[in-house]
Amino acid sequence: MNDVAERLRAAARMAHIEPFEVMEIQTLAREVEARGRDVVHLEIGEPDFRTPRPVVEAAKRALDSEPMFYTSALGLQPLREAIARVYAQRYRVEVPASRVIVTAGSSAALLLAFGVLLDPGDEVLLADPGYPCNRNFARTLGAVPRGVPVGAATRYQLTAELARRHWSPATRMVMVASPSNPTGTLVTPDEVASLAALTREKGAALLADEIYHGLTYGLDARTAAEAGDDVLVINSFSKYFQMTGWRLGWMLVPPELVRRIEVLAQNLFISPSTVAQHAALACFAPETIAILEERRAELDARRRFLVPALESLGFGVPVVPQGAFYVYADCSRLTPDSFAFARELLVEAGVAMTPGKDFGANEPERHVRIAYTQPIARLEEAVARIRRFLARKS
Ligand SMILES: Cc1ncc(COP(=O)(O)O)c(C=O)c1O
Repeated sequence: MNDVAERLRAAARMAHIEPFEVMEIQTLAREVEARGRDVVHLEIGEPDFRTPRPVVEAAKRALDSEPMFYTSALGLQPLREAIARVYAQRYRVEVPASRVIVTAGSSAALLLAFGVLLDPGDEVLLADPGYPCNRNFARTLGAVPRGVPVGAATRYQLTAELARRHWSPATRMVMVASPSNPTGTLVTPDEVASLAALTREKGAALLADEIYHGLTYGLDARTAAEAGDDVLVINSFSKYFQMTGWRLGWMLVPPELVRRIEVLAQNLFISPSTVAQHAALACFAPETIAILEERRAELDARRRFLVPALESLGFGVPVVPQGAFYVYADCSRLTPDSFAFARELLVEAGVAMTPGKDFGANEPERHVRIAYTQPIARLEEAVARIRRFLARKS
């Protein structure tokens, strides 16, 4: 068998794994920039802030003083303990450090959770619209993601009632994300408790993605860890702590799963990044938190500017986002096709946003996600460009 195309043919699973659309838009944006045009980047889920200085300094000190060997697959013990203290102090939930597992970003945590719980053919219920990689983690393992269409009536969140309605004999897991990407909405603690009760009744697992915790405006989110130690909770140093490129996250897992996840993590990752773990030890220091809280206030100011500005342009924002840094806007009054709209807006007006297609099959053509990851002056520029673009089209 010497034909290269045949020898390197794609595994069957690749037929079901779509490109991450936001990365495609970013590539197109770079091409537009290479042609000399300025682009306002509102596509990628990553704010313009750099990693806080105390965290960077901690990394530098560690590089000088610590051996950069593998750590335990579960993570550095002092970091696991520091994370456990956050749950006690910030959320008033007692979580033993033995249930905290440090991971290579929440992406690794999601893969590990799915990997130890889902067999081929098992179904996981998730909100649609939702974060696209979750579907593809499931598919990579041969499991089946079942998107449950959600809308403004449930603040774009899965409820126990919806989960019950979409339950099948193959359902093994329910997943929520709070605040959600792309909608920035939160699930209420009552709803988490109902979902936990439902998964117990049905013999399935509940997993809560809390990676945007810390980035909520006007309220502090409560953790799904409150609902019981059988709930898997996933979090990350990427978003609130602004460490996307360091690739570090964590998970809280039921005591029964610690060893199983350790074994899979040893095999898939050996250990999370050692330097990133030493850096993360500085994340909870008061001087780091002071920097991060200032940035949270800045993100809130951007949100308060952007939501009414988008509405004045003709976008609909049925539920005002309370967290993360996204507005999931209804663009159906402006275009029948959000995919073509996002591309035209980028090429003709120099504003990059993500079409709804990335987030599922629930009316993606009516929606775009706009990330307020740029300073207000740049958001003002984007709004002015969109206004001129729409005027030219009408
Ligand atoms: C909802 C959600 N979960 C998980 C991730 C993965 O983040 P990381 O692997 O950087 O922790 C992202 C990234 O944007 C996200 O939006």
